[in-house]
Amino acid sequence: MNNILIAPSLLAADFANLQRDIEMVNASDADWFHIDVMDGHFVPNISFGMPVIEAINRHAKKPLDVHLMIEKPERYLAEFKKLGATNITVHYEACTHLHRTLQQIKDLGCLAGVVLNPATPVSVLEEILPDCEMVLLMSVNPGYGGQKFIESTYDKVRKLRSMIQEKGLNTLIEIDGGVNQETGQKLVDAGADILIAGSYVFGAKDPIETIANLKKIK
Ligand code: DX5
Ligand code: ZN
Repeated sequence: MNNILIAPSLLAADFANLQRDIEMVNASDADWFHIDVMDGHFVPNISFGMPVIEAINRHAKKPLDVHLMIEKPERYLAEFKKLGATNITVHYEACTHLHRTLQQIKDLGCLAGVVLNPATPVSVLEEILPDCEMVLLMSVNPGYGGQKFIESTYDKVRKLRSMIQEKGLNTLIEIDGGVNQETGQKLVDAGADILIAGSYVFGAKDPIETIANLKKIK
């Protein structure tokens, strides 16, 4: 098993001190910045949009993992690439022509990922998995940070891991929601490659140390 990757979610950062929090992530063992874009339609909440991402990109020294919780994400892919997105993940539930959307992301030179809500089974990926460079499994319902981890996610990770193995793929498994040291360890045991953590990192007394400990999970 390779080193797992850690992606702190800026949704839990202090937006009045965003540059400070970005510099913290730059200085830490974290691998990616996780950026949550919400439109108030696909999810009930609205987070932040283009000007904020542009500002994040001016200071971030690590790849931007952009999680689009928006309807018809295909409308904005080129713009997110221009704003600095390295990875773009779109929800299965928000894309009518998912195959085309994934190709568009790849054509832009970004890593392309599909996100599944907790209620969406991994079996919907049967045909599309070879086209996914990454699959993000939501371990909470999307829209808010700080929610309780959904325990059935471990099983889902195991199922997805065996689908990937059966097909001989190297698709990455990313997990989002309620990740902490304990759930993170169990997720990696189940087969996760990338852990996103918001409130656990930014709510910690020592975020740098918290990230370092997550990064030690094997
Ligand atoms: C939720 C977002 C998450 C969120 C995770 O819709 O996709 O990235 O920031 O927050 P925590 O880690 O606090 O559950
Ligand atoms: Zn997210």
